[in-house]
Amino acid sequence: MKIGLLGHGVVGSGVRKIIDDQKTIEVQELVVKRILVKDDWEMTDERMTQNADDILNDPEIDIVAECMGGLEPAHTFVRKALEQGKHVVTSNKKMLATYCRELFAIANEHGVTVHYEAACGGGIPWMAALDRIRRVDDIMNFRGIFNGTTNYILERMYHEGKDFSEMLGEAQKLGYAERDPSDDIDGFDVKYKVMLSAVKANDVLLNLDDITTFGIRHILKKDLDYCRDNGYVCKLIGRGVRQEDSVSACVMPMFLKLDDMFASTPLNFNVIECEGATLGKAAFTGQGAGSLPTAHAVVQNIIDIWKNQDSEINPKLPAAVDNRDLMGVYYIRTKKSALFADITDRYVGEDTILTEKISLSEAALRIKNVDDPDLFIAEVAE
Ligand SMILES: NC(=O)c1ccc[n+]([C@@H]2O[C@H](COP(=O)([O-])OP(=O)(O)OC[C@H]3O[C@@H](n4cnc5c(N)ncnc54)[C@H](OP(=O)(O)O)[C@@H]3O)[C@@H](O)[C@H]2O)c1
Repeated sequence: MKIGLLGHGVVGSGVRKIIDDQKTIEVQELVVKRILVKDDWEMTDERMTQNADDILNDPEIDIVAECMGGLEPAHTFVRKALEQGKHVVTSNKKMLATYCRELFAIANEHGVTVHYEAACGGGIPWMAALDRIRRVDDIMNFRGIFNGTTNYILERMYHEGKDFSEMLGEAQKLGYAERDPSDDIDGFDVKYKVMLSAVKANDVLLNLDDITTFGIRHILKKDLDYCRDNGYVCKLIGRGVRQEDSVSACVMPMFLKLDDMFASTPLNFNVIECEGATLGKAAFTGQGAGSLPTAHAVVQNIIDIWKNQDSEINPKLPAAVDNRDLMGVYYIRTKKSALFADITDRYVGEDTILTEKISLSEAALRIKNVDDPDLFIAEVAE
């Protein structure tokens, strides 16, 4: 099996290393033939090229592994690879969640597949597990701590009583957070993963913009003080719940009870759980990022293709996001708290309310109409 690698950064170099160095029977069947890099200083190996066409037009290359990140040119390169009849493995959740409708259709047309284990949960075999569970069960719901960066920030704020900006700075220094951390702290990274999880769990293509998304950008030390004083921890949770003709889907900070299995998820780890009709609940945990764990997932997908183990049996169809049945109690901190008077159960601090039990769609609609850029919302576990 000959592989063309697009990108030789954290994940791409890990893929090259595993395929070059590992000696299992499966990995010995794989060869990295060409590697796309950007800069002259990266041309350290005769396989390196700065021209993507050397990979996309090479008839000997069976599989293209895209580990470049970003929307473009990753999307264009993946599209071209599929059009040339090459299978694609990608770790790029943002690109795939944005363009999967188009890319799945092109793959179908050309009799090839798109694999994306590494795009969701890094090294955790979450997508593979969903494929297997789905062969027997409908998946009723899933939820996960899908983002190690925010988990790291929330853990340290909670245990050390530190401010958000200080912990974000530390996460950046340690390389856990990007220089522009928006995708992580505004919940978009988790939104892409919820979208891709729903593809596997429910055979649906959700519209990204319809997934209700709140992040942790505006969380304050006093929000975590409330958690600590009342027996909760705060985690950023992505969720999907199968409804009859739709899916409820959201990303939001949640105040979880201390005995919730997710409450003790350490620092930069991920944990994801799903519930199947006959399987019941099953949970998966591990390193959701990092060079070799993520590259491991890419190489697993390459081996799946080589062994023709694509278990995606059902077509993926567009479905609506509907959060009217997702009911919860919400902690809302805003200087405009008076606007929530009719749904306030009680005040728990200056400008901070707990709502009555309301639907997430109602909570989201109300918040959309509040002019307060510092508003923070979290769901409170009952
Ligand atoms: N890192 C993780 O732990 C992890 C985990 C799960 C998923 N992912 C996903 O995997 C993808 C890659 O992440 P990463 O951490 O490996 O990023 P990275 O370290 O920045 O690696 C990407 C590499 O691709 C190169 N590249 C970008 N555009 C290119 C182009 N047009 N031609 C040639 N090379 C190009 C970049 O070069 P420059 O640096 O010069 O731009 C960089 O060397 C992302 O979508 C990310 O979300 C990462």
